[in-house]
Amino acid sequence: MTIGILGTGYVGLATAASFAARGFAVVCADVDEKKIALLQSGKLPFFEEGMSEVFAAASIPVVFTVDLTAACQCDIVFCCVGTPSAADGSADLSFVQSAAQTCADVAPNAIFVLKSTVPPGTARAMTQYVNGKLRIAANPEFLREGCAVQDALNPSRIVIGADQESVLLVLLDVYREVNVPVVSTNTITAEMIKYASNSFLATKISFINDIANLCDVIGADVQSVAKGMGLDDRIGAKFLQPGPGYGGSCFPKDVRALMHLGESVGVPLRILEAASAVNADSQRMPYVKLVDSLGDLHGKRVAVWGLAFKPGTDDIRDAPALGLLRQLLIDGSVVTAYDPLVVSLPTEFAAVARCSTPIDALQNADALVIMTDWKEFFAFDRVTILAAMSGTCIIDPRYVLKRSEVMVQ
Ligand SMILES: NC(=O)c1ccc[n+]([C@@H]2O[C@H](COP(=O)([O-])OP(=O)(O)OC[C@H]3O[C@@H](n4cnc5c(N)ncnc54)[C@H](O)[C@@H]3O)[C@@H](O)[C@H]2O)c1
Repeated sequence: MTIGILGTGYVGLATAASFAARGFAVVCADVDEKKIALLQSGKLPFFEEGMSEVFAAASIPVVFTVDLTAACQCDIVFCCVGTPSAADGSADLSFVQSAAQTCADVAPNAIFVLKSTVPPGTARAMTQYVNGKLRIAANPEFLREGCAVQDALNPSRIVIGADQESVLLVLLDVYREVNVPVVSTNTITAEMIKYASNSFLATKISFINDIANLCDVIGADVQSVAKGMGLDDRIGAKFLQPGPGYGGSCFPKDVRALMHLGESVGVPLRILEAASAVNADSQRMPYVKLVDSLGDLHGKRVAVWGLAFKPGTDDIRDAPALGLLRQLLIDGSVVTAYDPLVVSLPTEFAAVARCSTPIDALQNADALVIMTDWKEFFAFDRVTILAAMSGTCIIDPRYVLKRSEVMVQ
């Protein structure tokens, strides 16, 4: 069986790597010529642990091409294109539409599987959009950036949404060697599982951030609160880490899109509305604390440790650090930044001085803000940090220093 992949981003390439590792012939196509040229030369367009090695070890080399037709003519076509937020908060499905139209034109009746995160009802709407010329299924992806390959190879579960028995059987067959729970259902339910999962995780983060605010005021230790809660297996410890809000390319846009869907059918999702509002405050919190501590930030030197939205990736899409940098530049602060993986920033951040070590970023700094909990930051203690700075203000919304102190004890 041959596997076609449309879209060579995180999901497309992790999916390609996992099928290649299982011995399938895989054709990956993208409209981005630069990305494909990079892939053809053996390089990845982003950092993802272990991905290059999986491609290098594939028994059948993965084909990377700008020829979408080649991917569409495979036995199964996985649609892994982006679904960003539209201005009104809904998911912008134009890339999915374009991919589906291409596939319908060149390979009518193909099995076209939506791995992209799409609002419930999209598979059916796309089937109408292409006048029934594709057999469209939903197979949402749950991988986490930073361990995308491992997650694609060993997923927690496989969700298959198909409205035709024959399509379901093909998808069950393609995953037959993956020994994990499979949820087979119709397309709209599969699509909902993905949105509900991401929205729940985002809500969990906002919940602990709300609790953290209260802990701060009453003098309780939120780290211990989270630990005590997380030991209850009905709750679980994951996603109970307080921080500067959820970011990344998925949670913010998926929460917005689900709220938009709810509103459009007269079912407002009030918990998500609250989670979003808390998140906006959490993202702003480091800045508010800086102002509380330093007053007017004009001319103040602020060091920022960590730009990626989480450790293990160089992805800065919707990263909380960018909101902070933006505000600091507006205020006229002098900003230095260190991140071990993020190489370039958009031009709006050209005034941010990039440093090659965490200590370099601290030189003459009035304040330090730790925005990503990179493992290497845990090696620092307050004394070392303060010795390298001019000022004494450390804002640590990720609780890195507190956690490293706990780890040392
Ligand atoms: N990144 C994640 O961690 C993650 C996890 C699970 C699900 N998802 C979902 O998967 C989808 C893809 O996410 P991503 O992070 O991989 O996106 P991405 O932006 O990294 O990659 C998308 C790719 O699709 C390409 N593309 C656009 N239109 C195309 C077309 N018509 N034909 C072929 N290629 C086309 C783009 O050039 C781009 O390279 C999104 O819906 C996202 O919500 C992402």
